[in-house]
Amino acid sequence: MCGIVGYIGKKEAYPILIKGLHRLEYRGYDSAGVALLSDDLRTYKCVGKVSDLEKFTEGKNIKGSIGIGHTRWATHGEPNDTNAHPHYSESKNLAIIHNGIIENYAPLKEEMKSRGHIFLSDTDTEVLIHLIEDIMMNEKIDLEEAVREALQEVHGAYAIVIVSKNHPDRLICARKGSPLVIGIGEQEFYIASDATPIVEYTKNVIYLDDEEVAVVTNTGELSIKTIRNQEKTPYIQKLEMQLEMLEKGGYDHFMLKEIYEQPRSIKDTMRGRLHVDKGIIKLGGLVDYEKKLSQAERIIIVACGTSWHAGLVGEYLFEELSRIPVEVEYASEFRYRNPVISEKDVVIAISQSGETADTLAALELAKSKGATILGICNVIGSSIARITHAGSYTHAGPEIGVASTKAFTSQVMVLTLMAIMTGHKRGVITESRYHQLINELENIPEKVKRVLETDEKIKAIAAEFKDAHNFLYLGRGYNFPVALEGALKLKEISYIHAEGYPAAEMKHGPIALIDEKMPVVFLCNNQSAYEKIVSNIQEVKARKGRVIGIVEEGDQIITDLSEFAIAIPSTEEPFSPLLASIPLQLLAYHIAVMRGCNVDQPRNLAKSVTVE
Ligand code: G6P
Repeated sequence: MCGIVGYIGKKEAYPILIKGLHRLEYRGYDSAGVALLSDDLRTYKCVGKVSDLEKFTEGKNIKGSIGIGHTRWATHGEPNDTNAHPHYSESKNLAIIHNGIIENYAPLKEEMKSRGHIFLSDTDTEVLIHLIEDIMMNEKIDLEEAVREALQEVHGAYAIVIVSKNHPDRLICARKGSPLVIGIGEQEFYIASDATPIVEYTKNVIYLDDEEVAVVTNTGELSIKTIRNQEKTPYIQKLEMQLEMLEKGGYDHFMLKEIYEQPRSIKDTMRGRLHVDKGIIKLGGLVDYEKKLSQAERIIIVACGTSWHAGLVGEYLFEELSRIPVEVEYASEFRYRNPVISEKDVVIAISQSGETADTLAALELAKSKGATILGICNVIGSSIARITHAGSYTHAGPEIGVASTKAFTSQVMVLTLMAIMTGHKRGVITESRYHQLINELENIPEKVKRVLETDEKIKAIAAEFKDAHNFLYLGRGYNFPVALEGALKLKEISYIHAEGYPAAEMKHGPIALIDEKMPVVFLCNNQSAYEKIVSNIQEVKARKGRVIGIVEEGDQIITDLSEFAIAIPSTEEPFSPLLASIPLQLLAYHIAVMRGCNVDQPRNLAKSVTVE
């Protein structure tokens, strides 16, 4: 939520900042701004996207080799020019960009107002930069010390970068709860919310830890201290990301590219972990915790959004294949309801970004109660990946489209590997079933490729239903979470109201909504409860609902019952979500494109939600 970027070195900063903001725009896009330091410290900001900022700055001859930039997802104060970042301090000698929330901004603001401070915006961020300057002036201390002191006074989350007119050789940045990465070049530094704006300049990065303040200079110096003035030794890591992963690669949208990447991304998730020839599943990041996992009395999965849906698939997988009871919790609910957690519980957090504030807080709570905490994250080095005892990266590659697609299937794949491995270790699944499952797992990328071949057919269905006001998605068993995910995809990017339901629950409410205008997507590619789902389809048809069936290849019965049918390859039932979710991603995508929606940046959403 909110993207921040900074540059200090010898190059012109503005083009680097703008390019970086485009890469970070998935984090928020209601307003954008930059501050550059040359003969003076100037800010340029406006409501709208980064492209609007570019138009706004056209012909303005922006100069400076030190600068900061921001793309906003509004929390405090509506999206407008004034609330856009960067924000000046009272004297306009300092400018700040911020991602996160300063929770105690109101009393701080009142107190400073009573002493004559004038605030221009409604943001919590402006309060922080005023506070820093206030401390600097009152206590007659230098900027760095004032930043540390101010950060001890504030509650909440922050990733900040500060530029100062009186310190034209440095940028100061800090983080707590919101991510910040520093890229190290030749006598230059790049700062950003994630590594995507940095990767084309350098592969050497430092991920700041909570409550660390870094000072970087235009002579290549870097120092890190905690907000309590403790020196830290910088830990430099190598980025594995490649630049082409961040480009659209000929596709109209990142979302479409990411849908089409799934045969590859799923393969990457399995790479080095599934050894069919040796009959082994080995998850490197979990090696020391395999025993703990297989002896768990209970698994609790915490997540939000699409990752929560992957967690629900995980519940079916773990309960069937390893016979460990599983609870799947919305992280935001779990953390506030005083949950019962014991040392015998294993808590698994699922998060694409690894930064979702609620998921992070839920994990911290579970950790404080002595549970083992594991993570399934996509972003390497992310906060969740770092606070967990152990975990498995999904290795799906950067996901830029705000609506999650390939990250979901990779999360499901990690859960599948974990559940089979655990079940095997516990002796719950027989040797022959184990081999049957892992043999079929290897076929999944190829089968996903075949599902993608149905795209043209799905496009035709999208054309038929693009003007619908409502959609219903129904599935049973493993396909119930897929129904939820299909409905979420459609809501997120096309703004059509959609609900996912267990097919059998339909008669307890949603059936009342069915009429000749209601499209109902039935997920029928799992064999158990086949007859039951056939009955559910009949119930919808009897009320003139319009049935779109996702069926197994060769299934004539449901194909005949459906107005439209999409046939996908058959697979082992526990793997059916890996295939069934894909036509639903494509359906949502095409409908959204046909409705003229901004598929990669849907309104009001952000990809990484670092506020609670
Ligand atoms: C946001 C995104 C969703 C995502 C959810 C959880 O709402 O728009 O696509 O599923 O956050 O994010 P995470 O990074 O924790 O998976």
